[in-house]
Amino acid sequence: MTTTTTPTVPGDGIEIRPMSVHIGAELFGVDLAGDLSAAQVAAIRAALLRWKVVFFRDQALDHAGHVRLARRFGAPTPAHVVFGTDEDHPEVYSIAKHRTAQNGRAAALRCWTGWHTDITAAINPPCASILRGQTVPPYGGDTQWTNLALAYDRLSEPLKRLVEGLRAVHRFDAPRDEDYARKVGARDLAAEHPLVTVHPESGEKVLYVSPAFVKEIVGMEAREGQALLELLWEHAVSSEFTVRFRWAPGSVAFWDNRATAHLAPVDIFATDFDRQFYRVTLNGEVPVGVDGRPSRLLSGDPIEPQST
Ligand code: SIN
Repeated sequence: MTTTTTPTVPGDGIEIRPMSVHIGAELFGVDLAGDLSAAQVAAIRAALLRWKVVFFRDQALDHAGHVRLARRFGAPTPAHVVFGTDEDHPEVYSIAKHRTAQNGRAAALRCWTGWHTDITAAINPPCASILRGQTVPPYGGDTQWTNLALAYDRLSEPLKRLVEGLRAVHRFDAPRDEDYARKVGARDLAAEHPLVTVHPESGEKVLYVSPAFVKEIVGMEAREGQALLELLWEHAVSSEFTVRFRWAPGSVAFWDNRATAHLAPVDIFATDFDRQFYRVTLNGEVPVGVDGRPSRLLSGDPIEPQST
């Protein structure tokens, strides 16, 4: 993989400042609430493909602006196909510490699901997610992302050959409380995805091991599957593959959900700090494995774009 200290993308005025060698770049010189030019959209797309997650500072987005921005890059999904939304825009999902904290610290920690790729229990997980920070803790509350294409690339050849032929079952966790059980039960999503997918745009092979959703490896004994998954999960979040983002009010993160997993913070549950974020996800395609076989629906329906 080549690395550059990309200064400015000619023609669109967007400056790209990489944050680590393998993942994450801050993009400057663009107002996401304004009318993006075709060149700006193309530059952001290219940066997203290269850096997997891109960040913007000091953006003045409200819900309408957030959805409008998302529409420049694809078709927004409903806010959350299982948990729904209380927001006045059906595409906007609230990620709020104060709500999850109401049921106590333990419940809150369980709700913030550990390393994951968004909604891989669906046959067609979102292709990208756009998260904006509205109320941001003075410190703490960082989010981390990992580059799953690099994670695949850094496996040994024998392990690559093994995982390329395997598939895994992705589903939501077993019920944790009544509300969760009711919502997950009402829309029981499950899918079998290849353990290595081929990125539809870059052609990169991706170690598709969304830790919070993968429950078993198809055809393996539970103990074998668990041992292999533990190895892959630990590998996938090696610090070399990751980037950590420190939020400020108005910060926006835009990630390629086909090539990354991310980790929401839990340190804020040890503080009184509030944290109110909003997320819009873009409708995605059915993943395909190295052998050309697509994922398989096990339960529920594909995610459809939110109708306007
Ligand atoms: C998410 O998991 O989509 C949100 C991450 C965060 O709140 O930092």
